Amino acid sequence: MALEVRKGISIDLTDRVVLVTGSSSGLGESIARYMAQAGAKVVVHYRTGKDRAEKIVSEIKAAGGKAIALGGDVSNKEEVRNLFLSIDKAFGPIDILVNNAGIDGKRGLVGDDNTDDWEEVIGVNLMGPYYCAREASKRMKPRKTGVIINITSVHEYVPWSGYSAYCSAKAGLSMFTKTLAQELSDFNIRVVAIAPGAIKTPINKDVWGNPESLKDLLDKIAMPRLGEVDDIGRVAVFLASDLASYITGTTVLVDGGMALYPDFKHGG
Ligand code: BGC
Repeated sequence: MALEVRKGISIDLTDRVVLVTGSSSGLGESIARYMAQAGAKVVVHYRTGKDRAEKIVSEIKAAGGKAIALGGDVSNKEEVRNLFLSIDKAFGPIDILVNNAGIDGKRGLVGDDNTDDWEEVIGVNLMGPYYCAREASKRMKPRKTGVIINITSVHEYVPWSGYSAYCSAKAGLSMFTKTLAQELSDFNIRVVAIAPGAIKTPINKDVWGNPESLKDLLDKIAMPRLGEVDDIGRVAVFLASDLASYITGTTVLVDGGMALYPDFKHGG
């Protein structure tokens, strides 16, 4: 008797309709490119980066993939409704939603006058995923198929002074992931979160672009490097695929050990 050894594992998302919010740069861009490589029809969504989004779409098409660029503000429920109607028209009903669009917000302590910042961060990072998941689940439930991936952060677990709105939104998105996973489990729809650590993207360029703050950031990661966007893209395409068919309602940390209290490498 011999074990059957497979030569390789392939991820096949042929013609699945995928929306990646905020995919004109950073993590979203990588996720969109991986989805397209797996054969999906990808919506590269942007709020302000129209030119970038269109460039990504033409590169995906040039490589034989399928994509369109669509705009809109995820914190605005009307714009989200219209975004989904445009997707219906262009590609048909959505199969995979990646709630990636997010902002860190301005640094500010609680007690500073930062109500507007709180509202903006909660609007984009928490209400946005809710509006998109609501539209997506309406289209997924009758067809009994779907995957929703919410991009949270290591800050769904780790507090971060000056970013209370961000941490609260991400912790909220984590619990939204679990609750929605429970609600949709009878409909063959999985809901999963990915919690990235410090990934080198435009969002934290101020930090990794400066040698002193880069050193401080590296001290907060157990592994000796920042994350790359493809570290997240690869995990997203796996979670979207049937290889992950029994994973729902949980967060996959992709943080190089940022949440491992790396200071404990030195005594304690
Ligand atoms: C934030 C980044 C930050 C990282 C690690 C992410 O969620 O968006 O700005 O560098 O967490 O703290």
